Amino acid sequence: MTEENQSSALDFILLGVSGHQEQETLFLILFLFMYPITVTGNLLIILAICCNSRLHNPMYLLLANLSFVDIFLSSVTIPKTLVNYLLHSKAISFGGCLTQMYFMIALANTDSYILAAMAYDRAVAITRPLHYTTIMSPRACVLLVVGSWVVGNANAVPHTLLTARLSFCANKEVANFYCDAAPLLKLSCSDIHFNVKMMYVGVGVFSVPLLCIIISYVRVFSTVLRVPSTKGVRKAFSTCGSHLTVVSLYYGTVMGMYLRPLTSYSLKDASITVMYTAVTPMLNPFIYTLRNGDMKAALGKLCSKRISLKPT
Ligand SMILES: *[C@@H]1O[C@H](CO)[C@@H](O)[C@H](O)[C@H]1NC(C)=O
Repeated sequence: MTEENQSSALDFILLGVSGHQEQETLFLILFLFMYPITVTGNLLIILAICCNSRLHNPMYLLLANLSFVDIFLSSVTIPKTLVNYLLHSKAISFGGCLTQMYFMIALANTDSYILAAMAYDRAVAITRPLHYTTIMSPRACVLLVVGSWVVGNANAVPHTLLTARLSFCANKEVANFYCDAAPLLKLSCSDIHFNVKMMYVGVGVFSVPLLCIIISYVRVFSTVLRVPSTKGVRKAFSTCGSHLTVVSLYYGTVMGMYLRPLTSYSLKDASITVMYTAVTPMLNPFIYTLRNGDMKAALGKLCSKRISLKPT
Protein backbone atom coordinates (compact mmCIF):
# COMPACT_ATOMS: atom_id res chain seq x y z
CA MET A 1 0.00 0.00 0.00
CA THR A 2 2.88 2.35 0.72
CA GLU A 3 4.05 1.78 -2.85
CA GLU A 4 0.73 2.99 -4.14
CA ASN A 5 0.92 6.12 -2.04
CA GLN A 6 4.45 6.80 -3.19
CA SER A 7 3.68 6.37 -6.84
CA SER A 8 0.61 8.58 -6.67
CA ALA A 9 2.68 11.34 -5.07
CA LEU A 10 5.18 11.23 -7.95
CA ASP A 11 2.61 10.81 -10.70
CA PHE A 12 1.68 13.46 -13.20
CA ILE A 13 -1.93 14.26 -13.96
CA LEU A 14 -3.16 14.42 -17.55
CA LEU A 15 -5.87 17.06 -17.65
CA GLY A 16 -7.37 15.87 -20.95
CA VAL A 17 -8.36 17.51 -24.19
CA SER A 18 -10.55 20.37 -23.04
CA GLY A 19 -11.34 20.29 -19.34
CA HIS A 20 -15.09 20.15 -20.00
CA GLN A 21 -16.65 16.80 -19.15
CA GLU A 22 -18.99 16.57 -22.18
CA GLN A 23 -16.23 17.49 -24.64
CA GLU A 24 -13.92 15.02 -22.93
CA THR A 25 -16.43 12.22 -23.50
CA LEU A 26 -16.91 13.31 -27.11
CA PHE A 27 -13.15 13.11 -27.76
CA LEU A 28 -12.99 9.69 -26.09
CA ILE A 29 -15.75 8.37 -28.33
CA LEU A 30 -13.85 9.80 -31.31
CA PHE A 31 -10.65 8.09 -30.16
CA LEU A 32 -12.54 4.85 -29.65
CA PHE A 33 -13.57 4.90 -33.32
CA MET A 34 -10.43 6.43 -34.79
CA TYR A 35 -7.85 4.17 -33.19
CA PRO A 36 -9.12 0.85 -34.64
CA ILE A 37 -9.59 2.54 -38.04
CA THR A 38 -6.02 3.86 -37.91
CA VAL A 39 -4.50 0.51 -36.98
CA THR A 40 -6.60 -1.57 -39.41
CA GLY A 41 -6.28 0.87 -42.31
CA ASN A 42 -2.51 1.11 -41.99
CA LEU A 43 -2.08 -2.64 -41.44
CA LEU A 44 -4.12 -3.37 -44.58
CA ILE A 45 -1.86 -1.05 -46.57
CA ILE A 46 1.29 -2.75 -45.29
CA LEU A 47 -0.17 -6.21 -46.07
CA ALA A 48 -1.43 -5.19 -49.52
CA ILE A 49 1.99 -3.81 -50.45
CA CYS A 50 4.07 -6.62 -48.94
CA CYS A 51 1.88 -9.38 -50.49
CA ASN A 52 2.00 -7.88 -53.96
CA SER A 53 5.37 -8.01 -55.71
CA ARG A 54 4.09 -5.60 -58.38
CA LEU A 55 4.00 -2.90 -55.70
CA HIS A 56 7.60 -3.42 -54.59
CA ASN A 57 8.79 -0.06 -55.86
CA PRO A 58 9.96 3.02 -53.92
CA MET A 59 6.60 4.81 -53.95
CA TYR A 60 4.77 1.93 -52.28
CA LEU A 61 7.61 0.83 -50.01
CA LEU A 62 7.73 4.37 -48.63
CA LEU A 63 3.95 4.35 -48.20
CA ALA A 64 4.18 1.05 -46.27
CA ASN A 65 6.82 2.63 -44.07
CA LEU A 66 4.61 5.65 -43.45
CA SER A 67 1.79 3.32 -42.38
CA PHE A 68 4.18 1.45 -40.09
CA VAL A 69 5.17 4.70 -38.34
CA ASP A 70 1.55 5.89 -38.15
CA ILE A 71 0.45 2.73 -36.30
CA PHE A 72 3.08 3.37 -33.62
CA LEU A 73 2.48 7.11 -33.57
CA SER A 74 -1.20 6.73 -32.71
CA SER A 75 -0.36 3.96 -30.21
CA VAL A 76 1.83 6.29 -28.13
CA THR A 77 -1.08 8.34 -26.84
CA ILE A 78 -4.54 6.94 -27.59
CA PRO A 79 -4.46 3.53 -25.81
CA LYS A 80 -3.16 5.15 -22.62
CA THR A 81 -5.94 7.76 -22.80
CA LEU A 82 -8.61 5.08 -23.30
CA VAL A 83 -7.25 2.87 -20.49
CA ASN A 84 -7.09 5.82 -18.12
CA TYR A 85 -10.68 6.70 -18.92
CA LEU A 86 -11.81 3.12 -18.21
CA LEU A 87 -9.91 3.14 -14.90
CA HIS A 88 -11.28 6.60 -13.99
CA SER A 89 -7.69 7.73 -13.65
CA LYS A 90 -5.76 10.70 -14.97
CA ALA A 91 -2.38 9.64 -13.65
CA ILE A 92 0.83 8.86 -15.50
CA SER A 93 4.21 8.09 -13.92
CA PHE A 94 7.20 10.33 -14.68
CA GLY A 95 8.79 7.42 -16.57
CA GLY A 96 5.61 6.91 -18.57
CA CYS A 97 5.51 10.60 -19.24
CA LEU A 98 9.08 10.69 -20.59
CA THR A 99 8.42 7.56 -22.65
CA GLN A 100 5.37 9.15 -24.26
CA MET A 101 7.32 12.30 -24.97
CA TYR A 102 10.29 10.43 -26.45
CA PHE A 103 8.23 8.31 -28.82
CA MET A 104 5.95 11.18 -29.76
CA ILE A 105 8.92 13.34 -30.83
CA ALA A 106 10.79 10.46 -32.49
CA LEU A 107 7.82 9.12 -34.46
CA ALA A 108 6.43 12.52 -35.45
CA ASN A 109 9.87 13.42 -36.86
CA THR A 110 10.25 10.08 -38.64
CA ASP A 111 6.79 10.58 -40.13
CA SER A 112 7.78 14.03 -41.30
CA TYR A 113 10.96 12.80 -43.01
CA ILE A 114 9.17 9.89 -44.70
CA LEU A 115 6.54 12.32 -46.04
CA ALA A 116 9.41 14.31 -47.55
CA ALA A 117 10.95 11.17 -49.04
CA MET A 118 7.58 10.38 -50.65
CA ALA A 119 7.33 13.86 -52.14
CA TYR A 120 10.92 13.63 -53.40
CA ASP A 121 10.14 10.25 -54.96
CA ARG A 122 7.17 11.72 -56.87
CA ALA A 123 9.24 14.71 -57.97
CA VAL A 124 11.98 12.46 -59.39
CA ALA A 125 9.39 10.24 -61.11
CA ILE A 126 7.72 13.20 -62.82
CA THR A 127 10.63 15.55 -63.52
CA ARG A 128 13.33 12.98 -64.34
CA PRO A 129 11.48 9.85 -65.49
CA LEU A 130 14.48 8.53 -67.46
CA HIS A 131 16.75 8.56 -64.41
CA TYR A 132 14.11 7.44 -61.93
CA THR A 133 15.32 3.86 -61.43
CA THR A 134 18.96 4.91 -60.95
CA ILE A 135 18.14 7.78 -58.53
CA MET A 136 15.53 5.89 -56.49
CA SER A 137 17.51 2.62 -56.35
CA PRO A 138 16.62 0.08 -53.64
CA ARG A 139 19.75 1.26 -51.83
CA ALA A 140 18.67 4.92 -51.94
CA CYS A 141 15.23 3.92 -50.73
CA VAL A 142 16.63 2.03 -47.72
CA LEU A 143 18.89 5.01 -46.98
CA LEU A 144 15.93 7.40 -47.00
CA VAL A 145 13.97 5.18 -44.60
CA VAL A 146 16.89 4.51 -42.25
CA GLY A 147 17.82 8.20 -42.35
CA SER A 148 14.28 9.15 -41.34
CA TRP A 149 14.41 6.86 -38.30
CA VAL A 150 17.87 8.08 -37.31
CA VAL A 151 16.96 11.78 -37.51
CA GLY A 152 13.66 11.17 -35.70
CA ASN A 153 15.31 9.44 -32.76
CA ALA A 154 18.26 11.83 -32.73
CA ASN A 155 15.84 14.72 -32.37
CA ALA A 156 14.03 13.03 -29.47
CA VAL A 157 17.09 12.08 -27.38
CA PRO A 158 18.34 15.55 -26.33
CA HIS A 159 14.88 16.84 -25.50
CA THR A 160 14.00 13.79 -23.40
CA LEU A 161 17.32 13.87 -21.53
CA LEU A 162 16.97 17.61 -20.85
CA THR A 163 13.44 17.10 -19.54
CA ALA A 164 14.51 14.15 -17.35
CA ARG A 165 16.94 16.48 -15.55
CA LEU A 166 14.26 19.03 -14.66
CA SER A 167 12.70 19.18 -11.23
CA PHE A 168 8.99 19.51 -10.72
CA CYS A 169 7.26 21.04 -7.73
CA ALA A 170 3.71 20.90 -6.45
CA ASN A 171 1.82 21.41 -9.69
CA LYS A 172 1.93 18.24 -11.78
CA GLU A 173 -1.10 18.87 -13.95
CA VAL A 174 -0.10 18.49 -17.62
CA ALA A 175 -2.43 20.60 -19.76
CA ASN A 176 -2.98 17.90 -22.39
CA PHE A 177 -4.23 14.32 -22.76
CA TYR A 178 -0.67 13.02 -23.11
CA CYS A 179 2.76 14.17 -21.92
CA ASP A 180 3.50 16.79 -24.51
CA ALA A 181 6.83 18.60 -24.43
CA ALA A 182 5.52 22.16 -24.11
CA PRO A 183 2.98 21.82 -21.25
CA LEU A 184 5.47 19.63 -19.38
CA LEU A 185 8.20 22.30 -19.63
CA LYS A 186 5.76 24.88 -18.36
CA LEU A 187 5.27 22.87 -15.14
CA SER A 188 8.93 22.70 -14.19
CA CYS A 189 10.35 24.90 -11.47
CA SER A 190 13.90 24.60 -12.85
CA ASP A 191 15.49 27.05 -15.27
CA ILE A 192 14.06 26.02 -18.64
CA HIS A 193 15.69 28.59 -20.94
CA PHE A 194 17.98 26.04 -22.55
CA ASN A 195 15.14 23.53 -22.91
CA VAL A 196 13.02 26.10 -24.71
CA LYS A 197 15.87 26.97 -27.07
CA MET A 198 16.37 23.28 -27.83
CA MET A 199 12.65 22.92 -28.44
CA TYR A 200 12.83 25.56 -31.15
CA VAL A 201 15.85 23.78 -32.66
CA GLY A 202 13.80 20.58 -32.58
CA VAL A 203 10.90 22.23 -34.40
CA GLY A 204 13.43 23.48 -36.96
CA VAL A 205 14.69 19.93 -37.56
CA PHE A 206 11.10 18.75 -37.79
CA SER A 207 10.29 21.45 -40.37
CA VAL A 208 13.19 20.83 -42.79
CA PRO A 209 11.15 18.15 -44.62
CA LEU A 210 8.39 20.71 -45.20
CA LEU A 211 10.85 22.71 -47.30
CA CYS A 212 11.72 19.57 -49.32
CA ILE A 213 8.02 18.85 -49.80
CA ILE A 214 7.29 22.38 -51.05
CA ILE A 215 10.27 22.33 -53.45
CA SER A 216 9.27 18.84 -54.71
CA TYR A 217 5.68 19.81 -55.41
CA VAL A 218 6.65 23.12 -57.03
CA ARG A 219 8.87 21.13 -59.40
CA VAL A 220 6.09 18.63 -60.03
CA PHE A 221 3.58 21.38 -60.82
CA SER A 222 5.93 23.35 -63.06
CA THR A 223 6.76 20.20 -65.04
CA VAL A 224 3.15 19.12 -65.35
CA LEU A 225 2.02 22.60 -66.42
CA ARG A 226 4.52 22.57 -69.28
CA VAL A 227 2.97 19.36 -70.61
CA PRO A 228 -0.02 20.35 -72.74
CA SER A 229 -2.23 17.48 -71.57
CA THR A 230 -5.03 18.82 -69.42
CA LYS A 231 -5.82 15.31 -68.26
CA GLY A 232 -2.28 14.90 -66.92
CA VAL A 233 -2.48 18.26 -65.19
CA ARG A 234 -5.79 17.42 -63.56
CA LYS A 235 -4.53 14.02 -62.40
CA ALA A 236 -1.38 15.48 -60.86
CA PHE A 237 -3.34 18.25 -59.21
CA SER A 238 -5.93 15.92 -57.78
CA THR A 239 -3.40 13.59 -56.14
CA CYS A 240 -0.95 16.29 -55.07
CA GLY A 241 -3.84 18.44 -53.84
CA SER A 242 -4.93 15.85 -51.29
CA HIS A 243 -1.32 15.21 -50.24
CA LEU A 244 -0.82 18.92 -49.70
CA THR A 245 -3.96 19.12 -47.58
CA VAL A 246 -2.64 16.52 -45.13
CA VAL A 247 0.86 17.98 -45.22
CA SER A 248 -0.36 21.49 -44.40
CA LEU A 249 -2.64 20.22 -41.62
CA TYR A 250 0.26 18.28 -40.16
CA TYR A 251 2.95 20.96 -40.26
CA GLY A 252 0.53 23.81 -39.64
CA THR A 253 -0.71 22.35 -36.37
CA VAL A 254 2.73 21.25 -35.12
CA MET A 255 4.33 24.62 -35.87
CA GLY A 256 1.33 26.52 -34.54
CA MET A 257 1.66 24.55 -31.31
CA TYR A 258 5.39 24.91 -30.63
CA LEU A 259 6.59 28.06 -32.40
CA ARG A 260 5.33 30.56 -29.85
CA PRO A 261 6.06 31.68 -26.30
CA LEU A 262 5.66 28.98 -23.68
CA THR A 263 3.48 31.23 -21.53
CA SER A 264 0.71 31.24 -24.13
CA TYR A 265 -0.08 27.51 -23.75
CA SER A 266 -3.30 26.47 -22.11
CA LEU A 267 -5.59 23.48 -22.07
CA LYS A 268 -7.42 24.99 -25.08
CA ASP A 269 -4.45 24.03 -27.25
CA ALA A 270 -4.73 20.33 -26.38
CA SER A 271 -7.39 19.88 -29.05
CA ILE A 272 -4.89 21.15 -31.67
CA THR A 273 -2.55 18.29 -30.78
CA VAL A 274 -5.35 15.79 -31.55
CA MET A 275 -4.72 16.71 -35.19
CA TYR A 276 -1.22 15.26 -35.41
CA THR A 277 -1.50 12.60 -32.71
CA ALA A 278 -4.73 11.02 -34.00
CA VAL A 279 -6.22 12.59 -37.14
CA THR A 280 -3.33 12.65 -39.65
CA PRO A 281 -2.16 9.08 -38.83
CA MET A 282 -5.71 7.96 -39.61
CA LEU A 283 -6.05 10.05 -42.78
CA ASN A 284 -2.66 9.21 -44.33
CA PRO A 285 -3.58 5.73 -45.62
CA PHE A 286 -6.81 7.02 -47.11
CA ILE A 287 -5.29 10.11 -48.71
CA TYR A 288 -2.44 8.16 -50.26
CA THR A 289 -4.54 5.27 -51.59
CA LEU A 290 -8.03 6.58 -52.33
CA ARG A 291 -7.30 7.80 -55.85
CA ASN A 292 -4.84 5.05 -56.58
CA GLY A 293 -6.06 2.20 -58.80
CA ASP A 294 -3.09 -0.10 -58.14
CA MET A 295 -3.57 0.19 -54.40
CA LYS A 296 -7.29 -0.57 -54.66
CA ALA A 297 -6.58 -3.62 -56.84
CA ALA A 298 -3.99 -4.85 -54.34
CA LEU A 299 -6.43 -4.40 -51.44
CA GLY A 300 -9.13 -6.25 -53.39
CA LYS A 301 -6.71 -9.08 -54.11
CA LEU A 302 -5.76 -9.27 -50.44
CA CYS A 303 -9.42 -9.63 -49.44
CA SER A 304 -10.25 -12.23 -52.10
CA LYS A 305 -7.15 -14.22 -51.13
CA ARG A 306 -8.31 -14.38 -47.55
CA ILE A 307 -11.77 -15.48 -48.59
CA SER A 308 -10.46 -18.19 -50.94
CA LEU A 309 -8.06 -19.45 -48.27
CA LYS A 310 -10.78 -19.90 -45.66
CA PRO A 311 -12.32 -23.23 -46.86
CA THR A 312 -8.93 -25.04 -47.05
C1 LIG B 1 10.33 0.21 -45.71
O1 LIG B 1 11.21 0.50 -46.76
C2 LIG B 1 12.26 -0.43 -46.92
C3 LIG B 1 13.23 0.12 -47.93
O2 LIG B 1 12.66 0.37 -49.15
C4 LIG B 1 11.66 -1.77 -47.30
O3 LIG B 1 12.67 -2.72 -47.53
C5 LIG B 1 10.72 -2.23 -46.20
O4 LIG B 1 10.07 -3.42 -46.58
C6 LIG B 1 9.68 -1.15 -45.90
N1 LIG B 1 8.94 -1.50 -44.68
C7 LIG B 1 7.66 -1.84 -44.68
C8 LIG B 1 7.03 -2.06 -43.37
O5 LIG B 1 7.04 -1.94 -45.70
